[in-house]
Amino acid sequence: MGKKLFTLAVVVLVVLIVGGMIWSSTKGAAPEFRTEGDGTGNVVKVDLDAFETVQEIADGVKYNVWTFGGTAPGPVIRVKEGDTIHFTLTNKSTLGLSHSIDFHAAQTPWDKNYQPVAPGETASFDWVARFPGAFMYHCGVPPVLQHISNGMYGAIIVEPKDALPAAREYVLTASEFYATDKPVNGVFQGDPAKMAAVTPTYVVFNGEANRYMATPLVAKPDELIRLWVVDAGPTIETDFHVIGALFDHVYPDGNPTNQLNGMQTYAIPPGGGAMFELRIPDEGSYPFVTHAFAYTGLGSVGILKIDANAAAAPDSYPTIADPFDGGLAPVDGTISGDGPEPVIPGMPAGHEMTPSPTTSSPVPAGQTQEVDVTASIANGFSPATIKVSEGPVQINLTNPEAMAHDLTIDGLGVKISVGANASATGTFDAKPGTYEFYCSIPGHKEAGMVGKLIVSPAMAH
Ligand code: CU
Ligand code: CU
Repeated sequence: MGKKLFTLAVVVLVVLIVGGMIWSSTKGAAPEFRTEGDGTGNVVKVDLDAFETVQEIADGVKYNVWTFGGTAPGPVIRVKEGDTIHFTLTNKSTLGLSHSIDFHAAQTPWDKNYQPVAPGETASFDWVARFPGAFMYHCGVPPVLQHISNGMYGAIIVEPKDALPAAREYVLTASEFYATDKPVNGVFQGDPAKMAAVTPTYVVFNGEANRYMATPLVAKPDELIRLWVVDAGPTIETDFHVIGALFDHVYPDGNPTNQLNGMQTYAIPPGGGAMFELRIPDEGSYPFVTHAFAYTGLGSVGILKIDANAAAAPDSYPTIADPFDGGLAPVDGTISGDGPEPVIPGMPAGHEMTPSPTTSSPVPAGQTQEVDVTASIANGFSPATIKVSEGPVQINLTNPEAMAHDLTIDGLGVKISVGANASATGTFDAKPGTYEFYCSIPGHKEAGMVGKLIVSPAMAH
């Protein structure tokens, strides 16, 4: 009895002592992976304009990008852990689209600060960069798939408060483009059906297929190279690998406390990031790729050239930088849309969309009732409510946009398809009732292409 108690007491004591040692040692070694509270109070002003423009996304391929600051990806933003970002978004949409911001590096209420900003409007908020790393920012207006596919994303680098060893740094943002089969007026559009089916036409680093094949990124032999890589998606991961090299370290999401050693390939999910450190001993060309080879061939490859005569690495990197050169060159002052006049494919310059009445006038019964309807992503259906009487109805459907649309009424078995920048006519026999009509092309209904058809019974005479 006494012996058993003694044994139990010893066991309990040992558990307490060992447990306490483990607790105190883990507590003592807990790495600082974030900054608490209000940070350092240092304020960095970041202004972005959202607008649509045209960009070459592959050799000779012009595409109607939706952008932050006029480029896809948007500018590289670089701040320090603990900084307060005073952020302003101005929506200069030329397509009448709402846009928004979502910083993956921020802790801030979605229902307050990540909401759509209407064309012509400006919104501001402050946030503290508490976590160091490589983060995505993007537009979150539905359908998010379209806003991201069309170019509304970028990278924000939050440097840790304890400075990293000096290195030659580049920022790479990986993404996919889903271009229509044919251009309109020489410019390709985003194809919502391909976006939904994940059949990309290009998979790229920094907004253009094979961007760094002809103009490689450079470094010297054995120099510390630091690559901040963000996968903007919208859907495909980046299996980042440098052919002929290994990574000394990979830091998932770029947080310096997440150290992995001696890596060959590291998968970055859409909406994620990572920081890679490597030293390459020998001069030569080292392709960086996604090691998912169906996508490598769609443009997800560039050259890292190791050259003893490479120019020295910069001492520091700009707060707001051009994404195309990997974040090396500053972008002048405020990022704004005051550059070249944005080109809206398929639409004459200076064209303004005239708002149509939201409700059509009722048409007398007994004759074919003609209704003119305009279909667009930008403005939905106009009118969005159509009133007719029972009997034959003819819809004249006009599409002012550079993408196909349709008008579908499931309840009446109606589908009127209309090509890009075209008109189409459809007739059907309207039965009394209230019906939903919508565009059946994936993503379009979600974008607001939905309306109501009200058919009243024919009056007896
Ligand atoms: Cu947007
Ligand atoms: Cu997101």
